[in-house]
Amino acid sequence: MSQLYPFTDPVAAQQRAPTAIVRGQGCFVEDDTGRRYLDAVAGLWCAALGFDDARLTAAATRQYETLAYYHSFMGRTPAIANQLSERLGSLLPAPLSHLIYGCSGSDAVDTAVKLVRYYQNARGRPDKKRIVAREGAYHGSGALSAGLTAMAYCHDGFDVRDGGVLRTGRPHYYADAQPGESEVAFAKRRAKELDALIRTHDAGTIAAFIGEPAMGAGGVILPPDGYWAEIQDVLARHDILLIADETITGFGRSGEWFGCQTYGISPDLMTMAKQLSAAYFPISAVAMSAAVHQAVAQQAHRLGTFGHGFTYGGHPVGAAIALEALAIYEEMDLPAHVSRLGALLDPHLERIASHPAVGDVRRVGLLAGVELRDDTALGAEFGRRVVDEAERRGVLFRPIGNVVAISPPYTIGSDEIAFMIRVLGESLDTVAGAGAALAAVLAS
Ligand SMILES: Cc1ncc(COP(=O)(O)O)c(C=O)c1O
Repeated sequence: MSQLYPFTDPVAAQQRAPTAIVRGQGCFVEDDTGRRYLDAVAGLWCAALGFDDARLTAAATRQYETLAYYHSFMGRTPAIANQLSERLGSLLPAPLSHLIYGCSGSDAVDTAVKLVRYYQNARGRPDKKRIVAREGAYHGSGALSAGLTAMAYCHDGFDVRDGGVLRTGRPHYYADAQPGESEVAFAKRRAKELDALIRTHDAGTIAAFIGEPAMGAGGVILPPDGYWAEIQDVLARHDILLIADETITGFGRSGEWFGCQTYGISPDLMTMAKQLSAAYFPISAVAMSAAVHQAVAQQAHRLGTFGHGFTYGGHPVGAAIALEALAIYEEMDLPAHVSRLGALLDPHLERIASHPAVGDVRRVGLLAGVELRDDTALGAEFGRRVVDEAERRGVLFRPIGNVVAISPPYTIGSDEIAFMIRVLGESLDTVAGAGAALAAVLAS
């Protein structure tokens, strides 16, 4: 029996099996042939504390020895899940006041959408149900979350139902701004387009807008100046809820505890996963405002119960690991620590930005994207080729079209940062060619 691997061409996987990873040490992983790689994306933007943190392992062991499992259904809950809720309550931005646990970013997004529907029904607004999502969005692989995701390959062949989803433009200044348009003007244009979309489809049919504070899988797209303030103004005018999908940005990635703080976002609901447990346990959560919670609670009381939840939601081992991860983040002074690492990255990125094959370099916190030029002879293959070359040289990046994503563990050191970006530069030179060779590669 072999696996059907996610986001992998199954036929290609039969010819060339995925690299089997057997061990982790700090920011490095090792495959079954003994090759070591620095993981510049922390796995899937999630292993914030590297791959062998002893404190997280000890926290898991202690919890397994105390209470290895309990659920939160029908009048019981692991005490440690309550402790985690208390702890998150002290970190989460206003106006979030209640939360529910799950096991993945995808199920958190599905839960958020179901909560939004429940809320609108509770308010007597059964027609107000559609969700606005953006081009370039990734919100997961669940039945609802895949519909919110914009990538065609997440829909094709699956009959994903996205009939209720309205699509609006992504905040990609480098790729989508008009010549001479400032960031602020571009942000205003995106907000105007959103306003027009809402008016066309009638605000009375639209429940919520979902957005990643900074977009990850769509190509590390960072919002331009003023974007979130403009978007929130439009949503407030039309009585539309805001779901912040913090699956990637949550817990320090953007240089604050949450992307919402980096960008001045006041969400009605927030999804979080990945770095909540530094990826050492599949745990997620959806936080909601007191207003959403109150309407949902009253509706559930009328109906007799809140009929939603997962067997492993609020798992005690996940809660124990998350509490320990939060303790480590706090000891690190997370926002200051991530900002310091981001500043260390900058001079290296500046050198990469000066490469003639590079179109744009962007960074917030410890999340960066290097966008390669689309107009080279390598076309859309450029990013993949550079990332393959870097892998041969011992660094794992993630290609997103022609964007090379960088999102290393927070435990990365300055020498490792230098190594990571040196390998990126060498890989660029090898694939694109330097100097005269590059001129031949560049079509324009
Ligand atoms: C913004 C966002 N939402 C949701 C998800 C889905 O998370 P999961 O793979 O844990 O289901 C991801 C995964 O990368 C993500 O980036």
